[in-house]
Amino acid sequence: MSLANRDLQVIWHPYTQMQTAQPPIPIVRGEGTCLYDEDGKKYIDAISSWWVNIHGHSHPYIAQKIAEQLNKLEHVIFAGFTHQGAIELAERLLNILPANQAKAFYSDNGSTAVEVAIKMCLQYWHNKGQQRTKILAFKNAYHGDTFGAMSVSGRSAFTAAFDSLLFEVEFIDLPTAENIENIKAQISSLKSELSCFIFEPLVQGSAGMVMYDAEYLEELMAHCRQEGVLLIADEVFTGFGRTGKSFACDHVSTQPDIMCFSKGLTGGTMAFGLTTCTQEIYNAFLSDDKMKTLFHGHSYTANPVACAAALASLDLFLAPSTQDNIDRIVVKHSQFANKVAGHRSIKTTRQTGTILALEWETGNNTSYFSSLRDTLYHYFLDAGIILRPLGNIIYILPPYCITDAELDYIYSVIEKALDEI
Ligand SMILES: Cc1ncc(COP(=O)(O)O)c(C=O)c1O
Repeated sequence: MSLANRDLQVIWHPYTQMQTAQPPIPIVRGEGTCLYDEDGKKYIDAISSWWVNIHGHSHPYIAQKIAEQLNKLEHVIFAGFTHQGAIELAERLLNILPANQAKAFYSDNGSTAVEVAIKMCLQYWHNKGQQRTKILAFKNAYHGDTFGAMSVSGRSAFTAAFDSLLFEVEFIDLPTAENIENIKAQISSLKSELSCFIFEPLVQGSAGMVMYDAEYLEELMAHCRQEGVLLIADEVFTGFGRTGKSFACDHVSTQPDIMCFSKGLTGGTMAFGLTTCTQEIYNAFLSDDKMKTLFHGHSYTANPVACAAALASLDLFLAPSTQDNIDRIVVKHSQFANKVAGHRSIKTTRQTGTILALEWETGNNTSYFSSLRDTLYHYFLDAGIILRPLGNIIYILPPYCITDAELDYIYSVIEKALDEI
């Protein structure tokens, strides 16, 4: 039996309607920006395998560091024990994050990084004896699939079956020149109840690569700070160069109280999550009273192999050639966006850093369930490109090592699709 058929016997895939989905494509090898299936067909991974991969697949340097770590120490309980990799990673990351970030809390993925951030905020106020339990978030936000992360995400098809069980959140629009004063007034009217504001800085990935201005994010963050509302920047997607700078928060001057990371943290090699916070947040948990402890942890917290992968990825990320590659992708994306902007099949183009999104004109409203999605997905797969449209929105989000020739090939297939579909 083929791998695909064996898969269908035993596996339930994420975000997949198993009754109607095509059999999955068995991938046997990855190298650079490319993945190879069992028949040897090559695919350019233009979405960095769900936005995680930043240096290319099976990177030899990361692989070597992981192998060395595996032969030394594969795992150790992280309560009562520590290890070199976890310490060094925290030291080095805190060095490049906004200056107020002081402590690192490890977990397993983006959703858990968000859960930890929410719990830090809610318990911060609890430990201080203040009743601030409401959370502020953007409509259409996506912060993950666990219950806390779902609660602070916009209500959508993803959450519909659970809506009545999710905790209440105050949702606001993305800030613009027109609505910023109203949003600020809304926040001020609720301020004594609000514990925190969680946001995806600059780009809402899952919402369809929806982008908004740093200027209004800055204004919103400064206002929350003034009103005593804690700021959680969810950089799970935007972190590690995606927006052109190391972190999306580098585009604003107000520093968040808490930050969440995953995806690019290990260069896309290991499941890993990280929540960082200020000394002020951390201090609110220090007490002789054990009830003020942050009672949160996962079996694999600060896994040494994941730390080794993250340290190796950080070495590569901080090499000047990586920023050069990011700058190169930014320029090429914008040249391509300008070229296709007037095409009859394009509704809008938008770009932040290395993220380029094109909204296909369907004659209907933009929708995650657009029937165009499957047509586009298979069109690009046939051409050897993995682009996974969000409804009628396609986006290119490549590993930074993608070559000009590979980018040009992706652009040319998109242009062909614009004419043909
Ligand atoms: C902004 C943001 N936060 C959180 C998550 C959840 O991360 P994970 O899928 O690792 O749980 C995602 C995933 O796409 C995300 O884009």
